Amino acid sequence: MIIIPKNIVTDDGKDRILKNHFVEIENGIIVRISKNDEKYFKKYKSDVYRFENLTLIPGFVQTHIHLCQTLFRGLADDLELLDWLQLRIFPYENAHNKNSLLSSVRLGINELLLGGTTTLLDMGTLRHQEVIFEELQNSGIRAIAGKCLIDENDLFHAFKSDTISELDEIYQLAKTYHNTSNGKIKYGFAPRFVLSCSEKLLKESFEMKKDFAGSLYHTHSSENKNEIAEVKRRHNKENIEYFDSIGVIDDHSVLAHCIHVNDKETELLRKNNVRVSHCPSSNLKLGSGIANIPKYLKKGISVSLGADGAPCNNNLSIFNEMRLAALIQKPIHGSTVMDAKTVFKLATIEGAKALHLQNEVGSIEVGKKADLVLMDLNTNVHSMHENDESVYSDIVYSSSSDSVHSVMIEGEWKVLNKKSLLYNQTELNQKSKEELKKLLKRVQN
Ligand code: GUN
Ligand code: FE
Repeated sequence: MIIIPKNIVTDDGKDRILKNHFVEIENGIIVRISKNDEKYFKKYKSDVYRFENLTLIPGFVQTHIHLCQTLFRGLADDLELLDWLQLRIFPYENAHNKNSLLSSVRLGINELLLGGTTTLLDMGTLRHQEVIFEELQNSGIRAIAGKCLIDENDLFHAFKSDTISELDEIYQLAKTYHNTSNGKIKYGFAPRFVLSCSEKLLKESFEMKKDFAGSLYHTHSSENKNEIAEVKRRHNKENIEYFDSIGVIDDHSVLAHCIHVNDKETELLRKNNVRVSHCPSSNLKLGSGIANIPKYLKKGISVSLGADGAPCNNNLSIFNEMRLAALIQKPIHGSTVMDAKTVFKLATIEGAKALHLQNEVGSIEVGKKADLVLMDLNTNVHSMHENDESVYSDIVYSSSSDSVHSVMIEGEWKVLNKKSLLYNQTELNQKSKEELKKLLKRVQN
């Protein structure tokens, strides 16, 4: 297959932006990036895609998502984290059955793909985790996912399991799903957060990841002031200090949020090479705070982006996260921080590095997987000048998911001309509404 775009934002080590170049793909891998050559194209009887008005970029990587929550969009607005969990999210997640979970996951995957996200790290949910894995496999999206672990829950008692059965179940799940779908699916051990996990669960799930090379440890940390006060009351330590003291943070640990973090903890993040997943929409909407991302970047700490879940955002668009990641820091640190190119990288190659997938995705280079997005940057909302670098500004400051034209993962089209090739939106919405209605009835009973 050959793709001929207007230009290519490679995101390679040299950040080259190529014009009059094409990309050739074989068996899902980028095998050639060369100057346009009509003679060469003639050899191809079919599968030459001319998108001479569109910009080719690497697929976006989101490092903190809750697919199981997509169904709950708009049902938990204007609350702070612990109320949001106690009054809405835990009761709703607790009421999921396989059908409602499937609808939620499909809605989420569809939205992510239509918005150009091709890789995600998902937090899972307490029950029916296999439904999430099966749909991730069916969709062909690239994902690291795992069962959300909860063995203590003072906020909502019904929503927990016991330590040993949690550990038994995740071992089986990891054995079943880790490195499946040609390596596109990996396991991510996912203790929900300190307040819902015993020390044993946190430690043993961390130990278990050593049995599954390439798997990750994924949790929430230091998100909300009341949350960290409770962590301190229970463990007499700050959140990240506590993680460090029990030995569960290393370079395969992804911590969502990291807002309320002191200098000593920042040093622990750096020293342990921890990955920070920054979720600005969620952090603002839940009133959690603003993470000191410029400081993390200055110290060389890995930062990437995630939309979190639909009910705390209320979108799964990487474009919202990029725009906010840039804008919220400027009044605090000055307008020169978080420039468009830096932020674009957080959503692509830095996301790939955070997940240890940088040899496969995150940039457009020969040998990498063809996880690619075509953007239309020629609309009324985009800039009129044709400077190479304006492409980053157009993507980060001016684009939305509406600017995404087509999306492929490992050489397979998932979105073509703004249409999902996976799901029928009308049917998906209809089914999701039915499932949500039934779920809300279960919550009441
Ligand atoms: N902390 C524990 N669970 C959650 C969740 O579902 N969303 C967010 N934003 N924070 C959490
Ligand atoms: Fe989250």
